[in-house]
Amino acid sequence: MAFSEVYLNQMTIKVAINGFGTIGKRVADAVDAQEDMEIVGVTKTSPSFGCQLAVRKGYPLYCTFDEEDKIAAFAGAGYVCKGGLSELLSICDVIVDCSPGKVGAENLEKYQNAGVKSIFQGGEKHALTGKSYTSSANHIENLGVNCTRVVSCNTTGLSRTLVPIYELVQGKGSISVNSVMIRRAADPGDSSKGPINAIKPVLKVPSHHGPDLMTVKPEIDITSLAVAVPTTIMHLHAITVNLPLGHGLSTEKVLETWKNTQRVIVMNGTKNKITSTAEVMELARDIGRKWGDLHEIFVWEDGVSLQDNTLYYFQAIHQESDVIPENVDAIRAMMETETDWKASVEKTDRAISAYYGI
Ligand SMILES: NC(=O)c1ccc[n+]([C@@H]2O[C@H](COP(=O)([O-])OP(=O)(O)OC[C@H]3O[C@@H](n4cnc5c(N)ncnc54)[C@H](OP(=O)(O)O)[C@@H]3O)[C@@H](O)[C@H]2O)c1
Repeated sequence: MAFSEVYLNQMTIKVAINGFGTIGKRVADAVDAQEDMEIVGVTKTSPSFGCQLAVRKGYPLYCTFDEEDKIAAFAGAGYVCKGGLSELLSICDVIVDCSPGKVGAENLEKYQNAGVKSIFQGGEKHALTGKSYTSSANHIENLGVNCTRVVSCNTTGLSRTLVPIYELVQGKGSISVNSVMIRRAADPGDSSKGPINAIKPVLKVPSHHGPDLMTVKPEIDITSLAVAVPTTIMHLHAITVNLPLGHGLSTEKVLETWKNTQRVIVMNGTKNKITSTAEVMELARDIGRKWGDLHEIFVWEDGVSLQDNTLYYFQAIHQESDVIPENVDAIRAMMETETDWKASVEKTDRAISAYYGI
């Protein structure tokens, strides 16, 4: 092994989190769980309730901004703030931007000026970074890049189950997909969104969710429709895949493939009495990750059917957490410390399980 490879394999990657909200606090724990990474700081815009969590976890607290008065406000509320974003950027190798969508452009400029690698989330557009990421679709293409975007929770879910199907029929022809996304109205901790008493179609057709998959796997031709419904716990996808003639697959073969796919759970809904997203989230709470998170995509075995050249299935997505382990794998890709995506997934998931004692 060359000296540089030995060095890369032994180094601890210094990771900063900009935006310690729903996604940021989860990515921080997932990174903290890894042996090859450490959290060097997390940011809050002002001294609100998430600061206590950072203090309890021992994550150094920084202000999202550099203005003296904004930094001083933390001391006024009893928190030790170690400085502004510029100071945090001076001590990290990678920053994971978990800010609300659409503020990325301004932040990216700051990261670039500081010469720090950055990862954005699905609320930002692919055009911002020019690269997008899911572990199973394009880890290799992200090796060594300076900036990427972990795609949204929905797109991550599509990638988890569709990339294996694409690989099964590779060489026999292409697949085309339509997905109907039945979306949660808001996250459980969010009081500003809806609907609370309506089914709200996304009137931009097709919706962006399906086509976003093509930013990581352009070979999969996909469209989607989306509706928001009054639930907070999960998204559900109803997916139709058109397979090429002579695909050679069966329902059983597809199920066997997903059962052997990392971060996919396949269960019989009828036999296991898991007939809705409510029971799926109860299962997630039983698993025991913090916040009752479910990093895996849940597929109902008895909701999968391959008829002639068309595959039908349902899957459920825990919107707050399926992207969390992908952020960890994306860090390894950018830092070129693990070139094999499956090895990274194994490392990430084993460390998270050990962290939560599960
Ligand atoms: N929630 C989901 O279901 C989900 C799933 C997948 C992907 N995503 C994506 O993940 C990203 C974060 O979403 P979220 O749900 O975690 O949002 P969130 O809960 O609202 O958290 C956003 C965090 O960003 C901070 N912030 C505000 N302005 C900022 C700025 N200019 N720069 C840096 N940080 C700033 C906020 O700080 P304060 O706490 O101090 O206000 C807050 O902690 C978005 O791109 C979103 O689309 C979300």
